[in-house]
Amino acid sequence: MPGVSLVGSGSACLTVPLTNADLSQRVDTSDEWILTRTGIRQRHIAAAADSLASLAAEAARHALTMAELGAEEVDLILLATSTPDDLFGTACQVQAALGATRAVAFDLTAACSGFVFALVTAAQYIRTGVFKHVVVIGADVLSRWTNWDDRTTCVLFGDGAGAVVLRAADRDRLLGFELCSDGTLNHCLNLAYRAQAAPLVGDVAVQQGSFAPITMNGREVYKFAINRVPEVIEKALFRASLTTAEIDWLVLHQANQRILDAVASRLNVAPERVVSNMDRHGNTSAASIPIALDEAVRAGQIKSGDVVATAGFGAGLTWGAAIVQWG
Ligand code: ACO
Repeated sequence: MPGVSLVGSGSACLTVPLTNADLSQRVDTSDEWILTRTGIRQRHIAAAADSLASLAAEAARHALTMAELGAEEVDLILLATSTPDDLFGTACQVQAALGATRAVAFDLTAACSGFVFALVTAAQYIRTGVFKHVVVIGADVLSRWTNWDDRTTCVLFGDGAGAVVLRAADRDRLLGFELCSDGTLNHCLNLAYRAQAAPLVGDVAVQQGSFAPITMNGREVYKFAINRVPEVIEKALFRASLTTAEIDWLVLHQANQRILDAVASRLNVAPERVVSNMDRHGNTSAASIPIALDEAVRAGQIKSGDVVATAGFGAGLTWGAAIVQWG
């Protein structure tokens, strides 16, 4: 059975920062509240000229360059996003932008767990021998769907895109994984469609509405995260026949610094082994893990052979962990 190796990473560079001080001009909040409760100092907002597709393509281009792989060699592009440019899917626009003429491309939606779910999905195509080169992208423009007058959510989110390149290899570097969903907790975090009936002809009415802004029960999501994430990482480690002591880097979905700290403490992982870019990016949903991974690789922290425990969690509710060996 072919194995999976991770050979490149990249992220999009967003240049429009939105600081906590900026936000306090819009809602009743403060830099002190946001920083102490979340660890966030600023986030980035997609510029008017950016689209989900352009950000995703930029991240993918950087990852392909690191992997020294031509776009025409890519077999599959998997785009994890909850904020597509087009509800029919945005991955094909990314394929066109990259010139990845041979690649099949499709979207996958699992909110902030999207990148981990997509990584594991992509790996199955490689393990079955169907595909050799896959680009996995996590990209979200949550600013489109944030209620900028709701201080309980608007301070958390930012926009971004990150990507990795997977290549078929003799030795499998996806060492273990575990994915979970619980739809009974769906109400805790939503970006729901609100249908409005419009009469069409006779007794027939069509349901045409719009998507509501993000709503979240922050305390419930917080409790869910600090309980379920350590558990799912331990399960993935068990499948990898590894212990928490063998984790070189913990790269979690960047939702809240307090969640990162609590998960690390429960797993007994030292703070210097926890990758965090919360302060600069906020919560970029499906993009947060590949951006954090890319920054740590480019900063020379994560090196070839390092064991990385990564976990996503969020709407659905969904959560999942993957243990990978970089390079
Ligand atoms: N500025 C100032 N005060 C605020 C703000 C704000 N931005 N937001 C809330 N408050 C107030 C509240 O009104 C409340 O006031 P009260 O006590 O008078 O009622 C007080 O601060 C405390 O509010 P809590 O909700 O208890 O604050 P908490 O410490 O729980 O922090 C937070 C809130 C940051 C949202 C936290 O619960 C959290 O991070 N939850 C997890 C969110 C998350 O990780 N989501 C990830 C998934 S995202 C995805 O999948 C798309």
